[in-house]
Amino acid sequence: SNPSLLILPGDGIGPEVMAQVRRIIDWYGDKRGMRFDVSEDLVGGCAYDKHGTPLHDDTMAKAQEVDAVLLGAVGGPKYDKLDFSVKPERGLLRLRKEMDLYANLRPAQCFDALADFSSLKKDVVAGLDIMIIRELTSGVYFGEPRGIVKEGNERVGINTQRYTESEIARVARSAFEMARKRGNKVCSMEKANVMESGILWRDVVQEIHDAEYPDVELSHMYADAGAMQLTRWPKQFDVIVTDNLFGDLLSDLAAMLTGSLGMLPSASLGAPMANGRPKALYEPVHGSAPDIAGQNKANPIACVLSFAMALRYSFDAGDEADRLEKAVEKVLADGVRTADLLGEEGVTPVSTSEMGDAILAALDAG
Ligand code: NAI
Ligand code: MG
Repeated sequence: SNPSLLILPGDGIGPEVMAQVRRIIDWYGDKRGMRFDVSEDLVGGCAYDKHGTPLHDDTMAKAQEVDAVLLGAVGGPKYDKLDFSVKPERGLLRLRKEMDLYANLRPAQCFDALADFSSLKKDVVAGLDIMIIRELTSGVYFGEPRGIVKEGNERVGINTQRYTESEIARVARSAFEMARKRGNKVCSMEKANVMESGILWRDVVQEIHDAEYPDVELSHMYADAGAMQLTRWPKQFDVIVTDNLFGDLLSDLAAMLTGSLGMLPSASLGAPMANGRPKALYEPVHGSAPDIAGQNKANPIACVLSFAMALRYSFDAGDEADRLEKAVEKVLADGVRTADLLGEEGVTPVSTSEMGDAILAALDAG
């Protein structure tokens, strides 16, 4: 049977950018014979409007069964005053939590045509293609004890960095699996010089490597040095694996090496399912962009590249992912720009659907 895909366009520009991805999915069916069983459902504010909850139980159950979930974005001013328990974001958080998506993948990829957008020198970022894997379900954001307590006459804020061996091992495996599909190189980042959890992190990553992935090149780096190296010469890296806190900082830093929010895809992966594929949710990094929603202005590339990640990491179709990324690269090289990518004078921006047209034309031509 065909691989299954659940599409959750969400709110704001979510449905607009997802409409372009639907056209690309159809193209793969027609032209490449890659057919998916696609179903579509509600998440976020639109789900609240219909069901009174940002994620219906039936949608949650569907997400658990499919091979991959592709999400647009959730939220918007209309929902800002809702109670926390039914806010659009809760729909997204429930998906991540119940699917136990512990590995957050944030690629930092620089298309040559956009290298001028970076705040770094062009030769430092041109052709950059690295992947940061952030542990997403444990560490200092979740560790106990936590809280603000009274100690003598002052208050103390407490969080606990805590990692179990199995939590480190599973995200390390995600990183090594990923490296085998890319440049076969992993750099693990922690602070083993000052943190117990860092010492354990380094040991476990090394053990998993030696026992299961000796073919992958592994190095270790202190996370602060890693931040320096990421801005000095990011092309030295292929896959970086790190904890929740350091990953939060390093992935935002790496993302901005390459430019616009409208270009950034992401994936969150969990444990392998019975068919060997990981539980997976793919989504652009950006939100619902209420300021431009409904105007056919949004850049669909972040969502398109999220689908390319699904091809690569859920559907074992790295060649087809390359094909789609090359089509995007060609369109950018031809000077096609949505409004968020305008830098040069005298360039007229294209609409969301025209960017979709251009990517489909490039796929046809390729
Ligand atoms: P945002 O990412 O929606 O927008 C930030 C800025 O970037 C805006 O000026 C927007 O127009 C622009 N932008 C974003 N994506 C774009 C695209 N594809 N093409 C062109 N321009 C783009 O973040 P913001 O404004 O902080 O949040 C808006 C809403 O989205 C809020 O309700 C927030 O909670 C929600 N949100 C949802 C996320 C998700 O679904 N994963 C992530 C971040 C925010
Ligand atoms: Mg962050």
